[in-house]
Amino acid sequence: MNSDKIKEAAQLIRKAKYAVAFTGAGISVESGIPPFRGENGLWNTTDPIFLEIDFFNKKPFQSWQKIKDIFYDKLGDAKPNMAHLTLAKMEKRSFLETIITQNIDHLHQAAGSKNVYELHGTYKQLVCTECSTEYDLSFADLNYLPPTCYICKGILKPDIVFFNEPIPHFAKKRSFEEAEKADVFIIIGTNAEVLPAARIPEVAKEHGAKIIEINIQPSHYTNTITDVFLEMKATEAMAEIGKLLYL
Ligand code: APR
Repeated sequence: MNSDKIKEAAQLIRKAKYAVAFTGAGISVESGIPPFRGENGLWNTTDPIFLEIDFFNKKPFQSWQKIKDIFYDKLGDAKPNMAHLTLAKMEKRSFLETIITQNIDHLHQAAGSKNVYELHGTYKQLVCTECSTEYDLSFADLNYLPPTCYICKGILKPDIVFFNEPIPHFAKKRSFEEAEKADVFIIIGTNAEVLPAARIPEVAKEHGAKIIEINIQPSHYTNTITDVFLEMKATEAMAEIGKLLYL
């Protein structure tokens, strides 16, 4: 029964010495952001080629048009939901050390979380493809695409990880270190299909962490490494856990 499992999960978190959360697109679905795979997934309606780095370098205008439409016009209005907010409170009350996220939507920070590693970058920042200057999104004018660098006039790229681009070194290194340290590891809303991110929960398990997983349906992890599976929406599961932790 879910209520017993929720109690078990809350108890594990309460007793944890080093709890870490690992999040994917599923945590932001209830903020109105579609996931990548599955019935309403982005890759069902959109060709992922516009997110390949070679395509971007060759056709930045076309790539930017699509990226603006899919990410920038939608993410700007999205608000953190109960799952993001509960994780932020958990960190504040020392129930959680770190969040490792595959999401580019910045909603963990918007909810108040401080220790967040963004494995796939963030839409909130742009980087010059020529001189590597970084810009906050608020400095860019996306009415004229592609946006260009104020210093060298090079084309600005969203600071997200495109297909065939490496994961940012620091975020990757720190995420694997956090997984090794964790004694409780909470996986929320991911299909675990993209490497190297997908390896991180397995590394936590190999180093002895208890794995709590929250997803509306079983994932690749559920029957392999998960100890406590909460088959629920992220907002509902996290709201219940939050109550039991008196957040
Ligand atoms: N609550 C919890 N889980 C949910 C919810 C919800 N409300 N809605 C959907 N899910 C689950 C789905 O069942 C699925 O397991 O979230 C997961 C979303 O999976 P994907 O769409 O594959 O997203 P993700 O795992 O984050 O993708 C990883 O792949 O192409 C990329 O770079 C992109 O970062 C992304 C990476």
